[in-house]
Parts: sequence; C-alpha cells; structure tokens
Amino acid sequence: MNTAKQTGIAKLDINGRTIELPVLSGVEGPDVVDVKRLYAEADVFTLDPGFTSTGSCESQITFIDGEKGVLLHRGYPIEQLAANSGFLEVSYLLLNGELPTQSEFRKFTHEVTQHTMLHTQMDRFFEGFRRDSHPMAMLTGTVGAMSAFYPGAMDSSDPDERHLAYIRLIAKMPTLAARIYKYNVGQPFVNPQNDLSYAENFLRMCFAVPAEKYETNPILAKAMDKIFILHADHEQNASTSTVRLAGSSGAHPYAAVAAGVASLWGPSHGGANEACLNMLREIGSVDRIPEFIARAKDKNDPFRLMGFGHRVYKNYDPRATVMQETAAEVLYELGIDNPVLQVAKELERIALEDDYFIEKKLYPNVDFYSGVILDAMGFPTEMFTVLFALARTVGWCSQLNEMIEDPSQRIGRPRQIYTGAARRDFIEIKSR
Ligand code: SDX
Repeated sequence: MNTAKQTGIAKLDINGRTIELPVLSGVEGPDVVDVKRLYAEADVFTLDPGFTSTGSCESQITFIDGEKGVLLHRGYPIEQLAANSGFLEVSYLLLNGELPTQSEFRKFTHEVTQHTMLHTQMDRFFEGFRRDSHPMAMLTGTVGAMSAFYPGAMDSSDPDERHLAYIRLIAKMPTLAARIYKYNVGQPFVNPQNDLSYAENFLRMCFAVPAEKYETNPILAKAMDKIFILHADHEQNASTSTVRLAGSSGAHPYAAVAAGVASLWGPSHGGANEACLNMLREIGSVDRIPEFIARAKDKNDPFRLMGFGHRVYKNYDPRATVMQETAAEVLYELGIDNPVLQVAKELERIALEDDYFIEKKLYPNVDFYSGVILDAMGFPTEMFTVLFALARTVGWCSQLNEMIEDPSQRIGRPRQIYTGAARRDFIEIKSR
C-alpha cells in the first residue's frame, strides 16, 4: 500500500548519536514519524502503552478528525452515508473502497442474503449456555465456534476463502444475534426470510413469534439500518486493533473477529451503550443530574459518565448527533415519551456547560443515545453491545483484509521496557 509520502526528516539525538527518521504525510490528518528503523539504529524502543501518540498502520478505510468531529468512510462523511445510504451499501464501500454500481450492489446483496442461515448444529450449540447467559458471552462463544461449523474458509492467505469468511460473518451475525436474544427470552428461533432487507430480517428474527403474524415497522427498520451504519467502522479502535493483531499471526477471520467481539465487550468501549442506559436509568430524573455530574468530576470516585468522552473526538462525535435525531424519530413513531431521553438531553446540556467537561473536551459519543433507541425498539440492555458487534463486523473484516493485503504486513509483536527483577540464581525451597 504505502501511499504515504515522505515529506521530512525527524532528528533524534540519543546515546550520543543523531538518528534521522522519515516524516510521512497522508491524505488527511497528522503526519507520522516512521520509527521502524529506530531499534536497529539506536538500540531503543518507543513506549506508548495506550497508543495515544502511536499509529499502528497505514489505512484507507476510515478517517476521523477528533478536533473537528469529522468521520469519513472511504472519504464519504458519516452524516451523508447515514442520510442517503444503507448498511449493506456502506458495507460494500468499506470492503471494496468505492460505492457499488447498481449491478455490483445487487450481486453483493444476493451474496450476503445467500449466507444468512446458520448450520443447524449451531442451534444446538446454544443449548450449552445457561438461559440467563450474558448475550456477549454467547456471541463471543458462537463467533469463536464458527470455524468449527464452516471449515471451508480458514486460509487467510487465500483471497477467495477470506472473502467467503467475511460474507459469512456479515450475513450470519444478525442470525446469531437474534438467536442469542431468543435463547435469553425462551422463544423459538426464527429463521431468516431472504425477501426482507438486512435490518428488516434482523428485526423479524428478533421479534416475530410463531403465534402471531409479524409486520416490520419501516420506520424502525430504517432506524435499525441507520444504527448499523453509525457503528460500522471507526479507524483503529480497541476492538479493531485487536482484530488486526489477532489476524497478523495468520489466524483466520472467524478467530480474529471473535477476538474483536471479546474486546468490544468492555464498558470503556462497546459495552458503554449498555452501561450508559443503566446510568441514565439510575439517574432517573433531571433533578438528580447534578449529583452524578459531581461524581463524574470527583477524582476519588471511579464513576464516569458513560457515553461521554472519547480518545479521539475532542468535539461532538458526529455519530451522536445522528443518533440523537434518530432517537427522537423512533420515540415519536412509537408514541413513547421516554423520560430517559429527557434525562439524556438535560445531562448533555448541563455537562457541556460545565468547566470540567469543557476543559477535558468531553462530549457525548456514539454510545450516549444509542441505548435510548434500542430500549424503545424493545431490546434488553444486555443486547446493546451485541448489536454494536453485529454492525462492526464489516469494519473488522475490512480492516483485517486491508492488513492482510498490505505487502509490508508482518506479525504484530510489540516490545516493552522491563522493570522487573535483575538476573538472579534459583534458591532451593529449604534455603528460602
Ligand atoms: C467507543 O476508540 C473508538 O473509536 C471507540 C468507539 C468506536 O466506534 O469504536 O468510538 C466506540 O468505545 C466509544 C467510547 C465509549 N466509552 C464510554 O463512553 C465510557 C466513558 N468514557 C471514558 O471511559 C473515556 O472517555 C474513554 C475510555 C472513552 C476514553 O478514555 P481516554 O482517551 O483514555 O481518556 P482518559 O480516560 O485519559 O480521560 C481523560 C480525562 C481523565 O481525567 P484526568 O485523569 O485527565 O484528570 O477525562 C476524564 C478522565 O478522568 N474522563 C471522564 C470521562 N472520560 C474521560 N470523566 C468523566 N466522565 C467520562 N466519561
């Protein structure tokens, strides 16, 4: 790939030597200092535990400008994609780099649709879980098990096998997610119906019951599709970096994506949507907001405002804006006057006027409003991160594929600074 261009030299004076390191510029965003040769030339490592100043790769998929609150997928602003496109079209864009023509889109949609069903023995796989298992525990297990049921696409070095694995993952995630929900609520699994759109199919698999005719609500299906778009990819976040690192060893896509699912579960990452709605419910009413704002600012209190703050966005997360608008549309459509949305809006207003949040540039992120919508649509809180993983699967596959196809790609193997015990000899237990 390597389309980054050298535009300068960074000089580092260390250990009595001056090391010259290339400075590279991309299409958008900060330049980078290429430190690949640093250890070989200066016998030192760099150290950046949270990767706050470290780029892990060159990528052409997603660009985020945290200061301006900009998110582009293959150059297209997220606001335009959310307003004018659909999740499968955005999926094609992320995977292939360009928006599809009508014939390309028809072919891609057909390909995904042909892989929505699950191996019947996977259904028995669920019987091994307790009924009250956390949905993310079941998703981590079932995605990790996919390679046991679909052994035919395991060679990541084969483009056709990789592609088939990506299609299977994108196509089967909604079926897996819906089965997880049905297993939790003790209702029979509902199979995909391929004359429905991706989002309609998913909602029907979740909420249809054999005893009644099911009609998809087009407003909710459109909102679901938009929520999928808003979660599809986000540059080198924790779970995507996990997928890249797992895949860098040659692990097949199912294993790499299962690793991403596990990473996403954390409350600092994808688990924040579940934590945020729980927090909004705990706050309960606008008059309790000051108490929680004070706790969020208290250094001695581990409490944080869930759905607020971001490693990259130091401005409004553009996805949160679209999500807030969608929340209002869904609640109106469903005729729900959910006090939680009022609490969320008032919490946002108060926080954004508070010096602590202004100084630390803490704004609502993608997880702040998503839970309000998903709750109104009938999803239990514990399912929220499963829906995030469902949508992010195409981003994980796109980023994994970009890494595999990058000729400079090598197994990811970070180093460290060692501060443990110096060399010492073993002492027999009787002498200790
Ligand atoms: C996602 O990376 C991605 O792109 C992720 C994601 C994606 O699409 O993949 O966008 C999805 O994960 C969104 C983020 C969801 N997480 C949350 O909403 C959890 C709450 N947010 C925080 O835990 C935090 O903001 C993080 C984890 C999101 C970011 O953490 P950073 O970048 O490591 O920032 P930090 O923890 O160092 O915080 C900087 C300061 C700290 O204060 P000081 O130590 O400097 O005094 O801001 C404070 C923090 O205490 N702070 C908060 C806060 N977030 C940060 N204080 C109160 N409430 C918060 N939410």
